[in-house]
Amino acid sequence: MGVTLAVAMAVVWNGAAAQEQDGTQEQDGTAAAGPLDAVTPGEQPIAFSHARHVEQAGVDCQFCHAYARRGPVAGIPSVERCVGCHRSILTERPEIAKVLDYWERETPIPWIRIHNLPDYVRFSHKAHVRTGIDCAECHGDVGRMDIAAQVESLSMGWCVDCHTAREASRDCLVCHY
Ligand code: HEC
Ligand code: HEC
Ligand code: HEC
Ligand code: HEC
Ligand code: HEC
Repeated sequence: MGVTLAVAMAVVWNGAAAQEQDGTQEQDGTAAAGPLDAVTPGEQPIAFSHARHVEQAGVDCQFCHAYARRGPVAGIPSVERCVGCHRSILTERPEIAKVLDYWERETPIPWIRIHNLPDYVRFSHKAHVRTGIDCAECHGDVGRMDIAAQVESLSMGWCVDCHTAREASRDCLVCHY
């Protein structure tokens, strides 16, 4: 709300020193070339590969991230969505056995989250997806990645540059509470 923005604005006016104390500022907005944030191989509870599902099996992003067009979050698919296919596909593989085990225990798969904006930022997938911006413009070519990684800084400058280019609002209160 208003109070949060006032506090946040004080941070900006205090400059770089204040930024360093802010644990959320770990990404350097200039490094767009390589992955900024990713999990190391083996760190996710299941060795899930986007490339195998999107590029090889041809599954659409929004089949799994079904809320992207409808709400603020894109959503991570439930175990039920995985089991819809893996009840019968590759059931003998160890990684699929793990998926089926989560299903039997009625336990969600504890995926490690990669993208994470600070709480004082307002972002919604719906407006962006509906206006025709492709997932890849903000997420890179996830469909070819074995391990999903963050490729854009998600800094304020990154958001504002595109808003300027596409004549979308740059009002502080559009993006801040
Ligand atoms: C078969 C289901 C499936 C499909 C299809 C799929 N994803 Fe995913 N996606 C997942 C799962 C499961 C995760 C969580 C595990 C991980 O990070 O790899 C995930 C994670 C992600 C993340 C990282 C989320 C975070 O933690 O920040 C992004 C971004 C993403 N997907 C984008 C896409 C895009 C873009 C496409 C289409 C090119 C796509 N996904 C297709 C299942 C899917
Ligand atoms: C639309 C059907 C479909 C859905 C939904 C789906 N998968 Fe798959 N999955 C496949 C197919 C097809 C392959 C084989 C792809 C290839 O390599 O050509 C596969 C391969 C895999 C593999 C590799 C298995 C191995 O060892 O070879 C894993 C692990 C996996 N899926 C996990 C998941 C998880 C976790 C989910 C839910 C987030 C999920 N899948 C959702 C169809 C699906
Ligand atoms: C305008 C840029 C933009 C576009 C377009 C976009 N995303 Fe995102 N996405 C983001 C940002 C920013 C976050 C981090 C949000 C947060 O931390 O609150 C994110 C987070 C995610 C996440 C993890 C958290 C969540 O929201 O569930 C997934 C999965 C994801 N995006 C998938 C997709 C898919 C699939 C598409 C295309 C249908 C897509 N995104 C289109 C910017 C975008
Ligand atoms: C690739 C271009 C692009 C990027 C990157 C982008 N936006 Fe946007 N954003 C747009 C466009 C275009 C609109 C206007 C959509 C419309 O008019 O329906 C918009 C609209 C919005 C809205 C208004 C949503 C609504 O409900 O009306 C918010 C909030 C927003 N963006 C936040 C962000 C934030 C926060 C980021 C960075 C994390 C970001 N955007 C990054 C292009 C972008
Ligand atoms: C299009 C979206 C967008 C707009 C418009 C926007 N911001 Fe931001 N702002 C962000 C994002 C995203 C972050 C988080 C950046 C990060 O984590 O690196 C942020 C961060 C901030 C911060 C914290 C910076 C820090 O270093 O901790 C302040 C203060 C701030 N914004 C003030 C403003 C003010 C004042 C305006 C209006 C002039 C404004 N913002 C307009 C998206 C936006």
